[in-house]
Amino acid sequence: MKIDILTLFPDTVSAVLHESIIGRAAAKGIVDINCVQIRDFTENKQKQVDDYPYGGGFGCVMMAQPLKSCLEHVMQGAEKLRSRVIYLSPQGQPYTQETAKRLNRDYDHLVLVCGHYEGVDERFIEACVDEEISLGDFVLTGGEIAAMAVADSVCRLVPGVLADEQCYTGESHWDGLLEYPQYTRPENWEGRGVPEILLNGDHARIERWRRKQQLARTRDKRPDMFAAFEPQTEEDRKLLRELEKEQGRKKLTGPVTYRAASGEDIPRILEIVQDARESLARFHIDQWQGAYPDAARFEEDIRLGQCFVLMHGADIPAFFVLSPLPEPGYDAITDGRWSADLPYCVLHRAAAAKEYRGSGAAQALIRCAEEQARAYGLKCIRVDTHRKNKPMQALLRESGFRYRGNILVDSEPGHDPRRQAFEKILKDKK
Ligand SMILES: C[S@@+](CC[C@H](N)C(=O)[O-])C[C@H]1O[C@@H](n2cnc3c(N)ncnc32)[C@H](O)[C@@H]1O
Repeated sequence: MKIDILTLFPDTVSAVLHESIIGRAAAKGIVDINCVQIRDFTENKQKQVDDYPYGGGFGCVMMAQPLKSCLEHVMQGAEKLRSRVIYLSPQGQPYTQETAKRLNRDYDHLVLVCGHYEGVDERFIEACVDEEISLGDFVLTGGEIAAMAVADSVCRLVPGVLADEQCYTGESHWDGLLEYPQYTRPENWEGRGVPEILLNGDHARIERWRRKQQLARTRDKRPDMFAAFEPQTEEDRKLLRELEKEQGRKKLTGPVTYRAASGEDIPRILEIVQDARESLARFHIDQWQGAYPDAARFEEDIRLGQCFVLMHGADIPAFFVLSPLPEPGYDAITDGRWSADLPYCVLHRAAAAKEYRGSGAAQALIRCAEEQARAYGLKCIRVDTHRKNKPMQALLRESGFRYRGNILVDSEPGHDPRRQAFEKILKDKK
């Protein structure tokens, strides 16, 4: 790759581009970077490169002639090269990694023209420039910084400049994503560790973690890029599904307590009910699919002192309604029987917020309900759930409840009244 940079500050630009990685590539002859002084091509004694703008206004404009002569000079001997004349301009197309890839792929000679002052005579652009590139939507005093950015980013794609192709194919912007987070020694720095997964040497898991991080940080830092990203592989699609599930998830980071709900908690309770309603609908479970349970129901539960909210810091991750009174509908149990004729309480309404799913909030809810049952002086808890509500059934079973038979509830007209009945006898606390 040959790059000619036409500038009024060739020493500064050359010094920067002949440092470090690009400088070493130039020393090896892998890239050839020349910075050419535009002023050397003026045709006036004063070596003047700019003049006042026609029509008046502030500043000066770079004249077309020195630029054209300078360009003709660098084009000598370049006949066989695939050349591209680029004017760095705030009016150009915004520069991206895709542009860098294209310039590296399609050309072997780039001429980068740096303007200064108020810019360059429009007729030079019309007559000589193939393409205008902007470093971004802001204005620099000259094109040099933009030219250096283009030269650097194109040169590092030239084979042999970096140690391996993977050095740039895994980086931010290569395939529409940002790079994963990087760490180096020491393993513990100012109390901050390195993610455990990077220390275990399991390369397949590390690769997967890194790809997921790429997707997650692009989503978080550059939603615009993320919206345009098209997953190419089944693995990407799988990771995206995982991220979607995890999004907004909260963890239980401290103790979970519970308290009696007040009227002020009703909006939050209804929010949790709505989460549960939507989740049940997704699984085609005909439970809570009508108006029940509504605000009036919870007002009544609160008035009776039977509604409780779990507290995690100031957050309410779940609620439950536990009644110490027997439920007449439970007497007519079919396909089984209750295990004991003990006084019991009934877990009527309970749910955890969707952002706490998988956090242990549901298990905490059952623990709190058991504590409240003991507070009522009762050792038996009964509860019913829809026969299709497998997640609730699983939670009950893992919490020590037993399936006891089937019952019918007073459901709203048109909704399935059949429920499975579960029971747990609490052990005495040691
Ligand atoms: C002060 S600017 C001229 C801006 C011009 N008057 C305009 O408003 O479009 C001087 C030179 O800096 C360079 N330049 C300024 N902003 C740039 C950007 N965002 N990207 C690339 N080059 C830029 C151009 O080469 C330009 O000729």
